Amino acid sequence: MAFTKAETIWMNGRLVPWEQATVHVLSHVIHYGSCIFEGMRSYKTPRGPAIFRLRDHVDRLFDGCKIYRMEVPYGREQIEAAIQETVRANRLEACYIRPLVYRGYESLGVDPFPCPIDVAIAAYPWGEYLGKGAAEKGVDAMVSSWRRQAPDTLPAMAKASANYMNSQLIKMEALVNGYAEGIALDATGFVSEGSGENLFLVKKGLLYTPPLTASILPGITRQTIIQIAQDLKIPLIERSLPREALYTADEVFFVGTAVEVTPVRSIDHVTVGRGKRGEITSRIQTEYKSITSGQSEDRYHWLSQV
Ligand SMILES: Cc1ncc(COP(=O)(O)O)c(C=O)c1O
Repeated sequence: MAFTKAETIWMNGRLVPWEQATVHVLSHVIHYGSCIFEGMRSYKTPRGPAIFRLRDHVDRLFDGCKIYRMEVPYGREQIEAAIQETVRANRLEACYIRPLVYRGYESLGVDPFPCPIDVAIAAYPWGEYLGKGAAEKGVDAMVSSWRRQAPDTLPAMAKASANYMNSQLIKMEALVNGYAEGIALDATGFVSEGSGENLFLVKKGLLYTPPLTASILPGITRQTIIQIAQDLKIPLIERSLPREALYTADEVFFVGTAVEVTPVRSIDHVTVGRGKRGEITSRIQTEYKSITSGQSEDRYHWLSQV
């Protein structure tokens, strides 16, 4: 999906024209993937554009930087303000926001310490991630032959660019085989997550999702769905899930900032439930939409007006 460009990108404290937001080819990040990033959405609400769970995304960004010993040269409030400024300056309502903290241009040894920590924030329009109509019809997925990284290799809790080389293998394998998305198992063979989203399944009225120990990204949407399930009185069980639980589930759905709540209608050509959006998926999806669009009360203060 090509970019719908915006006008400016925030780089190290100032807004620069979109086309000039470039990095030097010898920057550390380009060679070694030394970047922590975020992905969040701003939604159109009756009170104007609002960023969903801004503070939680910024917290995860800073957690990732801490894991990789990257000292962010701005405070959390400054980054939040810069994110809001970027959305405002581009006169965007509903958009996707991509903040990045990365090791810049100074030297090219593996040792990252001499390199500056640069920060950039882009915001641009972005529609349905898994294709038009995916939220209603659901998508076909496969279990990937690629596993998620073992916990003592690349830390899954950090949303680090380098992790997405693994995601790309999963995604490409799915696409060349005719599926919309791949689901990876963790290093021990239990269900982990999609290439860019967390996963839930429903069996006999109970909701299940893999735990953080399954090498998943601690998704903000995942946390949101856990809260929504509690509010809707749908019992949730967080535990290791064997692959076959995907095939025998009544419903499976992906969750993430990009996919929001997207049903999975088949996995490895095995029809999930009745092969269409299930009842619990639908209830959760409706509630998620109603919260993000500012239709229902913002009872957890998840919306930050821009
Ligand atoms: C690998 C992976 N898992 C899960 C998620 C969902 O996380 P969130 O809900 O915070 O967007 C993402 C999206 O960024 C992701 O890339």
